[in-house]
Amino acid sequence: MHEFKIVKNLEEMGRAGAAILAEEIRKKPDLILGLATGSSPITLYRELVRMHKEEGLDFSSVRTINLDEYVGLPVDHPQSYRTFMNEHLFDHINIDSNNTWLPDGMAEDLDEEWSRYDALVNTLGGIDVQLLGIGPNGHIGFNEPSDEFSNHTQVVPLTRETIAANARFFHSLSEVPREAITLDIRHIMQANKIVLVATRNKEEILRKALQGHITSQIPASVLQLHRDLTVIFSEGE
Ligand code: F6R
Repeated sequence: MHEFKIVKNLEEMGRAGAAILAEEIRKKPDLILGLATGSSPITLYRELVRMHKEEGLDFSSVRTINLDEYVGLPVDHPQSYRTFMNEHLFDHINIDSNNTWLPDGMAEDLDEEWSRYDALVNTLGGIDVQLLGIGPNGHIGFNEPSDEFSNHTQVVPLTRETIAANARFFHSLSEVPREAITLDIRHIMQANKIVLVATRNKEEILRKALQGHITSQIPASVLQLHRDLTVIFSEGE
């Protein structure tokens, strides 16, 4: 099943995405949610927080696996993805912080860290619902354009384009980490359900990814092969 929803603005995008996640949480209270950071899911997280506070959406048994984390940022760095998740979601809902996982970008042995994270997803039994954004170059997670689809969690050098795109969150370009640990395409594709949220600046890459050839040069194009994909595109701010 592939569904493509066009909504008017970011609030609506958040509501539409959160409604799907909430329904899955109600059906399976201890589900494994794959989560993303960045600008695109912000309104969705805000809506989940609202649903928790006003409607009692219960996260007490939910387990979350984030897609990625920068290498070299301490967890309490304002731009670490752990900080992002705490600020936008975890600190405002009744999730057990022991059930929230992100890669450790400060691990001394990064190879060991990605193997640990990879094994963790397998031990948990895979991802039930994966939330995605899409990079301006078509990346999902930090699976950057390359000659082949990556099939193991790994430390990846970020492309110049991604570093430039993420510089908006840092004081200067030189502060943007050059590497990240990311879950791979295989874990993403094995999720039972995928929800991708995209803002209007992603229109062109989204079209290429969803309507063009499937190619590892546009990693998101592989989503054409997923059995249960919902894309929510906001045409406004
Ligand atoms: C973040 C992630 C990235 C972002 C993508 C879009 O965890 O995995 O793939 O989803 O870079 O970022 P925004 O939403 O900031 O445009």
